[in-house]
Formats: sequence, structure tokens, C-alpha cells
Amino acid sequence: MQPLSHTHTNRFPPHFFGLALVLLVSLASPTNSCMEQEKASLLQLLAGLSRDGGLKTSWRSDTDCCTWEGITCSPNRTVTGVLLPSRGLEGSISPCLGNLTGLLRLNLSRNSLSGGLPLELVSSRSLTVLDVSFNRLTGGLHEIPPSTPTRPLRVLNISSNLFTGKFPSTIWEVTKSLVALNASTNSFTGQIPTTPCVSAPSFAVLELSFNQFSGNIPREISNCTMLKLLIAGYNNLSGILPDELFNITSLEHLSLPNNWLEGAIDGISKLKNLVTLDLWGNELSGNIPKSIGDLKRLEELYLGHNNMSEQLPAALSKSHNN
Ligand SMILES: *[C@@H]1O[C@H](CO)[C@@H](O)[C@H](O)[C@H]1NC(C)=O
Ligand SMILES: *[C@@H]1O[C@H](CO)[C@@H](O)[C@H](O)[C@H]1NC(C)=O
Ligand SMILES: *[C@@H]1O[C@H](CO)[C@@H](O)[C@H](O)[C@H]1NC(C)=O
Ligand SMILES: *[C@@H]1O[C@H](CO)[C@@H](O)[C@H](O)[C@H]1NC(C)=O
Ligand SMILES: *[C@@H]1O[C@H](CO)[C@@H](O)[C@H](O)[C@H]1NC(C)=O
Ligand SMILES: *[C@@H]1O[C@H](CO)[C@@H](O)[C@H](O)[C@H]1NC(C)=O
Ligand SMILES: *[C@@H]1O[C@H](CO)[C@@H](O)[C@H](O)[C@H]1NC(C)=O
Ligand SMILES: *[C@@H]1O[C@H](CO)[C@@H](O)[C@H](O)[C@H]1NC(C)=O
Ligand SMILES: *[C@@H]1O[C@H](CO)[C@@H](O)[C@H](O)[C@H]1NC(C)=O
Repeated sequence: MQPLSHTHTNRFPPHFFGLALVLLVSLASPTNSCMEQEKASLLQLLAGLSRDGGLKTSWRSDTDCCTWEGITCSPNRTVTGVLLPSRGLEGSISPCLGNLTGLLRLNLSRNSLSGGLPLELVSSRSLTVLDVSFNRLTGGLHEIPPSTPTRPLRVLNISSNLFTGKFPSTIWEVTKSLVALNASTNSFTGQIPTTPCVSAPSFAVLELSFNQFSGNIPREISNCTMLKLLIAGYNNLSGILPDELFNITSLEHLSLPNNWLEGAIDGISKLKNLVTLDLWGNELSGNIPKSIGDLKRLEELYLGHNNMSEQLPAALSKSHNN
């Protein structure tokens, strides 16, 4: 056996089989480069940028776009991610990105992009994560035709931009998988959106602080049975905190400072999972309920600058009040 094996090794060097395997695998896959159409869509994004942060040197049309900086692909070379946060990009976001039919994640956070957010992206058939936070995007969000089939979007972060106008309710009717909406630090007006909760059963994060939302906290908020974060401070919200709010026992962070909210907070102790309660700077009245001491997970409590009784329940000795 020994001589035979020797001959064998001599005729085929040890790395031969590895090489043959690589060749076989690359022959078996239909293509070893991304599709031309997908490359064209990405180059449209590049063409719309007035400052590309050096992307041009990597995004060359004669190379496989799956090897470009900030691009991820699936094993079959479909573009699945465009991840370009903090690249110093300026210019607009091309709607052609909506032509990438396998795109799952788009992260353009912390650039200086301007113009609008293309409807093609919010209503994409494939996108699950869309983060355009910390840019200079303007205008409103568009309504989506009501007959649009369900879209897979799970996370939408449009915070820290210059968006204006009301929230289009139709967006939320088609995003039934939505888990998190972060729209903080914009100039949105109108009532706070609660439609996600009716259509999206897993909705958990609603962050709307630093806008101009007005009106009451809608009773429909009770439909948000999985809500963990409700953050809507520094708006123009008014009226009483509805009883329905105190039924959302999943809530861990309730933060509504600097609004015009009034009434009592007697139901608060029903929110057994609260970690943060920030109602600072409203017009709330009545006593701080003794039962607030039953909130065993509470770590931060801000009730100052309201019209509530100064008396802090003894049970709260461990928490702060400022
Ligand atoms: C994207 O799709 C639109 C309409 O389907 C088409 O007009 C446009 O040429 C496409 N753009 C690219 C870069 O593929
Ligand atoms: C590539 O793979 C993805 C799943 O990873 C699939 O959805 C898509 O249809 C495939 N595309 C092609 C062109 O085979
Ligand atoms: C987008 O990228 C930034 C910077 O890496 C990161 O902090 C952020 O979490 C990302 N967004 C999402 C939704 O993953
Ligand atoms: C945007 O918000 C989403 C959801 O809350 C979060 O996952 C992501 O990290 C945020 N992005 C940045 C840059 O903070
Ligand atoms: C929402 O986005 C802001 C950035 O604008 C970030 O600071 C904040 O942590 C995000 N909130 C959540 C709940 O992810
Ligand atoms: C949403 O909440 C409202 C008010 O609490 C309630 O009347 C309605 O039935 C709820 N809708 C769904 C779909 O649960
Ligand atoms: C705030 O809300 C009140 C009514 O609740 C309204 O009269 C006022 O115009 C609003 N202010 C802003 C800046 O939206
Ligand atoms: C809160 O939940 C309880 C028990 O599920 C229910 O009986 C009550 O009607 C709810 N209250 C409101 C205001 O939705
Ligand atoms: C604040 O509370 C006091 C005593 O309960 C009451 O007389 C007063 O009208 C309240 N002020 C406001 C603005 O609600």
C-alpha cells in the first residue's frame, strides 16, 4: 500500500483536491459576481451623492459589487445589505435602491444626506431594517396605496432628521412585522401614531421625543400589548393619561416629560415591569400613589415640575425624585 500511496501523492500534490473543490463549487454556482442590474442600482446611489466619502475607489463597475465596501451579499450573490453609516455621505438617497429585490438591511445613519426618504424603501418588499437616522432628510413620509401587500419591515429609524407633517397611517397598515419605530428629533405634527399596534402584533418600541406631536395619548394605545418603550417627551401632548395606558403591563420605559399632560397617575402601579418612569414637567396633579413602591423593577423616577403633592411615599426611599 505504501508505494501506491506514494505514487498517488507524487502525481497529485496535496493541495490539488482542495483546488479542484474550489473550482467545482465556483462552477456549480450560476454566477460568481453580483447581477448587473443590482450593480446598476448601487451605482445610481453613488451617482446621487455629491460627497461619497471615498466610496468611488471601491465601487468600481468592473468589479463584483459583493466585494464593494459596505455591501453584503447572500451566498448566491444577491445584495442583502447596504451598510454605510458614518461615511460622510452627502446628496440624496436614490429610489433605485428599491430595485434591490433581496435587500434586507439599509443603514445610512450618521451622514449628511438630504432630500426625501424614497417611498420605494419604506414600502420595499424585502427590507427588514431601515436606518437613516442622523441625516438632513426633509419632507413628509408618503402614504402607501392601501391595497399594498404586507411588507416585512421590522425596524424603522428615521430619527434626527428634518421630517415634517403627519404620520401616514397607511405605512403602518402594511408593516405588520414592525417592532421598532424611532422618529425622535424631527418636526412631526398631529396625533401620535398608534396604528402600528393594531396591525403589528409584535410592536415594542415607539420613540417619538422632540417633535411637535399634539393631542391626547390615544386610548387605542391599549392595542399595543407588547409595547416596552413609549418615549414621547418634548412634544405638545395634552389631556389626561388614559386608563388604557396603565393596562400595557409590558411597558418597561414610560417617558413623557415636557408635555402638557394632566390628571392623576393612580393606575401607575399596574405597570409592574416599569424600569423608567419619567413624567417630569407636565401638569399632573393628585398624590403620588403609595402603590408606586410596589414597582419592584423601578430604577428611575422623575415626577418633578408637576402639580403633584410633595409627599413622597416612604416605600420609595430607594428611588430618586427630581
Ligand atoms: C429601477 O426600477 C425602475 C422601475 O422599475 C426602473 O425605471 C429603473 O430604471 C430601475 N433602475 C435601476 C438602476 O435598475
Ligand atoms: C438568492 O438567495 C435568496 C435567499 O438567500 C433567495 O431569496 C433569492 O431568491 C436567491 N436569488 C437567486 C437569483 O437565486
Ligand atoms: C446602523 O449603524 C450604526 C453605526 O454602526 C449603529 O449604531 C446602528 O445600530 C445601526 N442601525 C441598526 C438599525 O442596526
Ligand atoms: C435607530 O433605532 C433603532 C430602533 O430603535 C435602533 O436599533 C438603532 O440602533 C438606532 N440607530 C442609531 C444610530 O442609534
Ligand atoms: C432613537 O434614535 C436616537 C438617535 O436619534 C437614539 O439616540 C435613541 O437611542 C433611539 N431610541 C431607541 C429606542 O432606539
Ligand atoms: C384598539 O383599541 C380600541 C380602544 O381601546 C378598541 O376599541 C379597539 O377594539 C382596539 N382594536 C383592536 C384591533 O384591538
Ligand atoms: C399645542 O397644542 C395646543 C392644543 O392642544 C395647540 O393649541 C397649539 O397650537 C399646539 N402648539 C404647537 C406648537 O403645536
Ligand atoms: C384593563 O384590563 C382589565 C383586565 O384585562 C380590563 O378588565 C379593563 O377593562 C381594562 N381597562 C381598560 C381601561 O382598558
Ligand atoms: C395645583 O394643585 C392645587 C392643589 O391641589 C390646585 O388648587 C391648583 O388648581 C392646581 N393647579 C393646576 C394648574 O392644576
